[in-house]
Parts: sequence; structure tokens; C-alpha cells
Amino acid sequence: MADSLQESHAELSTSRSRILAAADQARRRIERDLHDGTQQRLVSLVLELRAAQNAVPVDQPELRARVARLTETLPAALDELRELSRGIHPAILSEGGLPPALRALARRTLLPVELDVDVPRRLPEPVEVAAYYVVSEALANTTKHAFASSVRISAHARDDALRLSVHDDGVGGAVAGRGSGLVGLTDRVEALGGTLTLDSPSGHGTTLEARLPLG
Ligand SMILES: Nc1ncnc2c1ncn2[C@@H]1O[C@H](COP(=O)(O)OP(=O)(O)O)[C@@H](O)[C@H]1O
Ligand SMILES: [Mg+2]
Repeated sequence: MADSLQESHAELSTSRSRILAAADQARRRIERDLHDGTQQRLVSLVLELRAAQNAVPVDQPELRARVARLTETLPAALDELRELSRGIHPAILSEGGLPPALRALARRTLLPVELDVDVPRRLPEPVEVAAYYVVSEALANTTKHAFASSVRISAHARDDALRLSVHDDGVGGAVAGRGSGLVGLTDRVEALGGTLTLDSPSGHGTTLEARLPLG
């Protein structure tokens, strides 16, 4: 009885991580298609439009103004597309691994972020992706809910596990079941055999910690 329970538990967590890996792979493919296809086309359109703008005769002020508006709005659409594909799958993570990806997340956060990253090698892809999502969601939560004045992130790779911690000095009182972000993170981390811990006493800030086994 205990044996078969343990066996089905193991099967369940293998299929969980298989599902996650398949979804991640699909997202990576969409990101590549957007980057190599749509974005490249838009980039060349922007260049062509600039050339066309210079070719409009000066005695056609109305046409000049219309083309000028186009050359302003098209790059904005391109920026939006870049932002969108970053949300689908962060290319910087597959290319450079966790340290540059975490620095990019920190840069985009509207609060002062202290980063302490000691990850001297590439980690298994599912671990990198999970770690990225943990930090990304924790930073989004801090920005949305915490009223914090600063955030501290640490990521340390040891032989047996990657340890992550995101701490803010905000209002605390976070409860995992209330939204979907933390519950989704728990699924992702547990599918890899890891643990996610939330410590958020009311009035005393929030710490989210994850341990992701390596090996
Ligand atoms: N850093 C934080 N500081 C204060 N409250 C938080 C923090 N993170 C989460 N919370 C609270 O816990 C709830 C659950 O968080 P989460 O699962 O990420 O859901 P949501 O989709 O609302 O962000 C949030 O709705 C919020 O009320
Ligand atoms: Mg959230």
C-alpha cells in the first residue's frame, strides 16, 4: 500500500514536470518566431518608412505630417511587441542564464533592488526557468501589493540546490491562496522536487524563499 502510494506520487510529479517542460518549450518557440519573424519585419519597415519620409516633397506638408506620425508610432508598436515576447519567454535567460536575466528583472523594477547572485555556472533549464518565474512574480507582488521601499534578492547555487530569496520591507500579510501567482509558483517548484516558503507577518515585510534541487 505505502509502496504503491509512493510510486503513484513519483509518477505524478514526473508527469507534472513533463507538462511544464512541454509548455515552456512551446513558449520558447513562440518567442523565437516573434523575434526572428515579426520583429525583424517590423524593424525593416521602420527603416523603409524613414527613407520614405525623407523622400516626401517639402511642398506636401499634410503628407509629411502623416508619414511623420507613422514613423513615430511604428517603433512604439515594435517596443510593445518586444515587451510581449519577453513576457512569453525571456530570451536573455536561454542565452545568458540566471545572472543577466535577474539583473534585467531588477532593472525593470520600480523600486531599489539589492542583488546578491552567486550562480557561477549554467543550471538545468527547468531550474533556471522556475527560478526566473519565482523572482519575477515576487518582484511583481512587491510592486503591486507591498508598499515597500526596497527589495533584496539572493540566488546562490550550491552543489545540491539553488537557493533563492526575495525579501521586501513592505506591509506583509501575503496569503498564497488569495491570488493565482504564488499557487502557480508552488506547483512549478514542487514539480521539480523543490520547496517554496512564504513568510509574511503583517507589518513586517515579506520573504519568499525557494529551494530547487540540482542533480
Ligand atoms: N510582497 C507582498 N506584500 C504584501 N502582500 C502581498 C505580497 N505578495 C502577495 N501579497 C498578497 O498575497 C496575495 C496573493 O499573491 P499572489 O498569489 O501573487 O496573487 P496576485 O495574483 O494577487 O498577485 C496578493 O493578492 C496580495 O494580497
Ligand atoms: Mg502575484
